[in-house]
Parts: sequence; C-alpha cells; structure tokens
Amino acid sequence: MRKEQLQAFAQQPTPFYAYDLALLRQTLAVAQAEAGKYGYHIHYALKANANAPILAEILEKGFGADCVSGNEVRRALEAGFPPEQIVFAGVGKSDAEINFALDTDIFCFNSESGQELEVIQELAAAKGKTAQVALRINPNVDAYTHKHITTGLEENKFGINLWELEELVPRFAEWPNLKLIGLHFHIGSQITDLRAFENLCGRVNEIQRWFEERGRTFPHLNVGGGLGVDYHTPEENPIADFAAYFSIFNRLLEKRNGQIVHFELGRALVAPSGNLISRVLYLKHGQKTNFVILDAGMTELMRPALYQAYHKIENLTSDLPTQSYDVVGPICESTDCFAKGIQLPETKRGDVVAIRTAGAYGEVMVSEYNLRDRVKAVYLS
Ligand code: LLP
Repeated sequence: MRKEQLQAFAQQPTPFYAYDLALLRQTLAVAQAEAGKYGYHIHYALKANANAPILAEILEKGFGADCVSGNEVRRALEAGFPPEQIVFAGVGKSDAEINFALDTDIFCFNSESGQELEVIQELAAAKGKTAQVALRINPNVDAYTHKHITTGLEENKFGINLWELEELVPRFAEWPNLKLIGLHFHIGSQITDLRAFENLCGRVNEIQRWFEERGRTFPHLNVGGGLGVDYHTPEENPIADFAAYFSIFNRLLEKRNGQIVHFELGRALVAPSGNLISRVLYLKHGQKTNFVILDAGMTELMRPALYQAYHKIENLTSDLPTQSYDVVGPICESTDCFAKGIQLPETKRGDVVAIRTAGAYGEVMVSEYNLRDRVKAVYLS
C-alpha cells in the first residue's frame, strides 16, 4: 500500500489495521504460480492472520490451511476450507482438540511426539476412525533467524528428535488406527538467509533415506513455512521472493515419484498487505530523546516488544524536515516501544502514522492488557 493510499485513512478514528487486498491478491497469485511450476501444495498458516476477508482471498486461490489449535481448525472450516485440505500441527494438542479434528475428518495430524501419537491412536480407536498422521521431525537445522522464532534446533521444544525415531517407528505396528502418510518439518520463521532452506533439503533427504532403508515410504513431504519478508524497505520488495524459495526445493529436495510436497507459509503471504494505522497523542521531550506517543501500543502489535522486531514507521500527515524520535505506545510498560532513534518528519499531536508490514502476527497477537479495546480492521480492495 503506497503512502498516498494510506493517507486516505487519515480522517478515521484510530488505531486500526488497514489491509491492502489488492496486494494480498497479487502476492497469492505469485506464490501460487511459483509453487505451481513444481506441483507444490501450499497450506496457509492461519496463525499469521485469521481474519475472514483474508481467509476468503486465500481460499479462493485454492490454498489449504495449516492450523495449530482446535479453534484454528474451526475457523478454517467456517471460512470454507475443505477438511481434506486442513493439517493440524502443534506441540500440545489437547484431547478435546484432537477429538474435534477427528470428528471433522481433517487431512492430517502433524504429530510432535510418541506420547501424542498414543493419544491420537486411543481417541481415533474410540471413534472407530483412522487418523492420517505425519511425523514432525526436529531436523536440527539452523534457520539463522531470531532465537525466539527458531523451531528446528534440538534445544527447541518442537518435533520428534532424530535419535527417537529408531524406537518410535516400529510402534506403528501397535497403532492400527494411525496411518503414517508423511514427514513434516518447520525450522523457523522470518528466514531471509535462504541457505537455511538448502540445509533443510539436505537433512530431509537424509531422513527420507533413513526411512526407506527401513522399508517406509511416504506419499507426502511437508517442509513447513518460514520464508521471510522485507520489513526495512517494503515499497521496494512488497512481494517475497517466492521464485527463489521454491526453486531451492525443486533443485535440492529429493522428491520421489508421485510424492506430494507441501508448504506451510504464513508471514510471506500476508505480512506486507497489513498496516497498523495510529494517531499521535503526544510529543514528549525527554532528556536524551524525543518521544512520539501513539494511540496504538504493544497491545495492538506485540512484535517489537516481544522480539525487538523492526517495522517501518511512516508519518502520513507531515512532510516537514526529519528529526530523531523514539516511537512508543500508551501501555504502562517500558517495553511498549515500536522504534528507537528513527528519523521521522517533524511530528505533532494529531499526526497519523502507518506501521508497515504488520499483516502477519499483528492482529492475531492482540492482547487486552490494560483493558484495551479490540483494534478494528478495514480492507481496501
Ligand atoms: N508451520 C508451523 C508448524 C509453524 O510453527 C509456523 C509458524 C508456520 C508454519 C508459519 O511460518 P511462517 O511462514 O509464517 O514463517 N509470532 C512470530 C512468528 C511465530 C511463527 C510460529 N510458527 C513473529 O511475529 O515473528
């Protein structure tokens, strides 16, 4: 969304999320075309943004859904995703969530432990059903990203460790209500050093061969998501480099005949099309810095407080010469800070700012802390 388009919002009550559905559609079309070159399937990771108008666009493009809670499965079904295109991952699925997913006949559980497999077996048997499962394996591959969004290292809680497989795999003989159909991997998020995916391919190949040596083949390989976006210069790179991303897997992943390769992308599909629009409440001249105090805070966009994440901030209503500011929210926490020492045009009370690239892991992570009102959303088609 260009600055002029965002300026159209300047009169509305703030804060709110503004979504650029035209950019979303373009992004989805590029992702679909690039994945389509190799016959890859994309499941959209609902955890990034589960707003109905966004899901409607994604559904229309024919993507599946990647869910990590019973409520996400429910939301995907409500949005119209067919059950046979829904996968359910997550390190701590409750019995109620597993039962719900069994009742709705989803495509596959991405299972994270032997104990969880036992529970799925027991619950599926009680219903006289067979659950399709994929093993989420922790491949111990570095994603070269922020430590809080790295998931594929042994120190992370996710997935089944490689050394557990020897003992685990024969147990499928005791689990008649489980059908092992695939392997699943996800090494982290906001990955911009694409060598991480090259390393992942190498590891998946080794693991697949390990299984084949033991007589196990899989119709499905799910290599997760994680493709990063450009938070620093969103206008130059509004669409992630899907061509480079998928071509790595085409080049390096050993896909067997007839095997279907699945991806679970969240951020790269939706982050650039969302902006958090906020009004300047006050200016405060501190000893070392000038503070811009916004009417949006960490309750509306938690990423900077949680991961020191950078989001570009633009003043939509001032063209004055720039000054250095710390941009903060109204919440009673020192960590409620969007940016430190950034250059903005001279800013005054009443100015409207856009916090860019906030379409993923923005609205979904909203909190009511300080009893804040729920932030609204507008959609620009
Ligand atoms: N699949 C699984 C199993 C996942 O855990 C995730 C994200 C994805 C797919 C989608 O990853 P993506 O393509 O969006 O990178 N709140 C953090 C990000 C947490 C990501 C969690 N897992 C943030 O704001 O940076």
